Amino acid sequence: MPFIYEDYKKSADALFELSGGAEPEILLILGSGLGFMADEIESPVYVGYGDVPNMKRSTAPDHKGRFVFGRLCGKNVAVMQGRLHCYEGYSMEEAAYPVRVLRLLGTKKLLLTNAAGCVNTSWQKGDIMVINDHIRLFGFGPLNGPNISEFGPRFNDMVRAYDGEYIDLAKKAAGDLGISIRTGVYMYFPGPSFETPAEIRAARVLGADAVGMSTVPEATVAAHCGMRTLGLSLLTNMAAGISGEKLSGEEVNQTAEESSERFSALVRKVITGM
Ligand code: HPA
Repeated sequence: MPFIYEDYKKSADALFELSGGAEPEILLILGSGLGFMADEIESPVYVGYGDVPNMKRSTAPDHKGRFVFGRLCGKNVAVMQGRLHCYEGYSMEEAAYPVRVLRLLGTKKLLLTNAAGCVNTSWQKGDIMVINDHIRLFGFGPLNGPNISEFGPRFNDMVRAYDGEYIDLAKKAAGDLGISIRTGVYMYFPGPSFETPAEIRAARVLGADAVGMSTVPEATVAAHCGMRTLGLSLLTNMAAGISGEKLSGEEVNQTAEESSERFSALVRKVITGM
């Protein structure tokens, strides 16, 4: 059953109470292997997803499944330590649910991070990519069902789903830090299987630079309700069939760990400028 506006309102009211009246400026969603960044929040207040009415729980390995409210780089932030994915059995609307809840708490800026497979053969495992567009060709999106007009219009524009100024900000932040950064297109696959080599060849023909199992639900809903979004992908592995090696969740987590300092420095710098 699709949600109605009152469902979101109920969740937002509860989250406001549980967080002690948080009014975060930025929502930061942490992808696979990147949850450690929540440990950097000052004066943290934790709220488990299970304590928020209507919210689904995070079941993905290593995703803690809680909000952390507090300060990061001088900004009031809400961090999702672990996100919700469709492969956990959730609809796209359920996966993106927290974005609208935070919007009702006044949040207008969204920083999405993810681990992704690298499709672009000129790039390397460990590279960081700022997302300038995405591809989601198949299946229902998160706005399927009756439109909730309090959030946005029935047919919403996706041309500026990834904010141009934020893309420039990420490039400049990376330059200042001496970190190299790629810019490209993220293609959504529902998972939980990694893609087949043929799917990756198809993705490349279609114009994808990276593939992953998240981000698109949240970015779509954020565009609909007028939030500014920045997406950063850590390319934790070459996508299926490129290196000939077997893909695994362990490789994803290992690369994320190896890149943690670089990635978190970039996230901090970007948040300062958002
Ligand atoms: N495919 C999909 N999702 C991913 C990958 C991948 O290769 N790596 C990390 N997340």
